[in-house]
Amino acid sequence: MSAGQALLARLDAADRLPGAAELRALSYDLFGVGSGGAVVDVGCGGGRGVAEPAGRGVRAMGVDPSERMIAVARGRWPGADFRVGDACRLPPADGVRDGYRADKVCHELAEPERALAQARRVLAPGGRIVLRGQDRTRWSSTPAIRPSPGCSCTPAQTWSRRRVRPAGSALCS
Ligand SMILES: C[S@@+](CC[C@H](N)C(=O)[O-])C[C@H]1O[C@@H](n2cnc3c(N)ncnc32)[C@H](O)[C@@H]1O
Repeated sequence: MSAGQALLARLDAADRLPGAAELRALSYDLFGVGSGGAVVDVGCGGGRGVAEPAGRGVRAMGVDPSERMIAVARGRWPGADFRVGDACRLPPADGVRDGYRADKVCHELAEPERALAQARRVLAPGGRIVLRGQDRTRWSSTPAIRPSPGCSCTPAQTWSRRRVRPAGSALCS
């Protein structure tokens, strides 16, 4: 199994954990947008974070730098909007999105401040940033979803401490 396939298997296992679907639903609720709203899911991986909001009538775009991930996402969710791109150089134009979401991504970013600046750039006034991080205790103790050796969470901790309110969502004014 390739590294990409192994990551997808871990992500799929995490998505099946008890309570995972409810937590994802809460993250979509936190956008505060209804049908017709526009959001971007950054580091979308296999694309569930795009397909599920789209199922609510939201216009969702998924962005990921991995061509392999985007190919898998397009295969799983035909017709959904997936783009190859980076958190520090997002495809949407300025001020056109109502919500920004990054799920289990911030720990991968070398320059989270640049990603946050991009989040603010693409959001319309009042748009919301929703960030999720894995429960590291559970992640590391569950064999099916154990991360790669050497995985570091320092950038995410930095992002969380400096930039984001404790509730995990921030209002862009
Ligand atoms: C742990 S996976 C999470 C995937 C998905 N959000 C989920 O919850 O299943 C992290 C994802 O972040 C992506 N990623 C890594 N560096 C990134 C960057 N600079 N900008 C955007 N996404 C990035 C990876 O390709 C991968 O798909």
